[in-house]
Amino acid sequence: MELISIKNLKFSYGNHSDNGGFSLNINSWQLSRGSFTSIIGPNGCGKSTFLKILARLITPSEGEIRYENIEQNRIELKNYARKVAFVPQQIYSVFRYSVYEVVMMGRTPYLGLMGFEKKGDSAIVKDALEQMEVWHLRSKGLNEISGGEVQRVVIARALAQKAELILLDEPNSHLDIEHQLKIFNLLHQLNKDEGLTIVAVSHDLNLVGIYSKEIVLMQNGAITLNGQKKDVLNEINIKNVFNINSIVKYSEDKTKANILINPIDIN
Ligand SMILES: Nc1ncnc2c1ncn2[C@@H]1O[C@H](COP(=O)(O)OP(=O)(O)O)[C@@H](O)[C@H]1O
Ligand SMILES: [Mg+2]
Repeated sequence: MELISIKNLKFSYGNHSDNGGFSLNINSWQLSRGSFTSIIGPNGCGKSTFLKILARLITPSEGEIRYENIEQNRIELKNYARKVAFVPQQIYSVFRYSVYEVVMMGRTPYLGLMGFEKKGDSAIVKDALEQMEVWHLRSKGLNEISGGEVQRVVIARALAQKAELILLDEPNSHLDIEHQLKIFNLLHQLNKDEGLTIVAVSHDLNLVGIYSKEIVLMQNGAITLNGQKKDVLNEINIKNVFNINSIVKYSEDKTKANILINPIDIN
C-alpha cells in the first residue's frame, strides 16, 4: 500500500535568480507504508526542500502529492500532523521553552478543544524523553543543553507525536557515535515492530548502508535513482555522485552493506 505518491512535482524558491537557479522537479515517486528510506545526495541538491514539501512546510507550485490516495492539501493540517512528524535539520525560535515543553508540543495535534492536555499525554511525553535519554534534562531550557541533546529532544518531540510516518533531516549530524547508533537502532525497532514508516536524509553512508531498505538518490533538484538499497548503493554510484572511491560489501542476504571509504591519495 502506498503512503505517498507524487506526480510531476515542481518547486522553486521565489525568483530563480535569487536562489542560484535551484528548482526541484520530481516526476514520479512512491513511498510504501513500512519503508525505511534514506535520502542521499550532495549538498544543495534539494533533500531538505523535498522533505519540507512532504512535511507540508512549503507548497509546490505544480504537481500532485497524494497521501493514502487523498490529495495532500485536502487533508486538515491537524490530521496531517497526526500522521506525519518532521524532525528538521535546524530548529529556531523555540529556545525559550523547556525540554519538557518542546516534547509536549508533539502532542499538539491531539489536544482537546481548549488546548488542555489529556491524561495520556504526559505519559507519552515521559516515554519519548526516556527513549531519547533526555528525561534528566526536562526542566532545562533548550538554550542550556548541547547541540546533540537538542537533536535528541527534537526527535523525542516527533516520537511523542505518534505519527505513522516520520521524516528526519540529518538526525545524526550533531550526535556522538553511540547516540547515532542508538537512534538508528530505535528507528529500526519502531519500523520493524510497529510498522513506522521512516524517511531520513543522511550523509552517513555507513548508517544508510546498515539501516535503510530503500534509497532515494538526489542530484540537482531531481531524483536520479530510487529503489532497493542493493540497487542504489554501490561503488559505481558512490563514485559518480560523490566522486570518492569506496568498497561496498553486502551481507549474504543483501540487507546490510558495509562501506569502506578510501581516502584520496593521502600519504
Ligand atoms: N529559503 C530558501 N530560499 C532560497 N533558496 C533556498 C532556500 N532554501 C534552500 N535554498 C536553496 O535551494 C537549494 C536546495 O537546498 P536544500 O534543499 O536545503 O539542499 P540539501 O538539503 O540537499 O543540502 C540550495 O541551492 C539552497 O541554497
Ligand atoms: Mg539539507
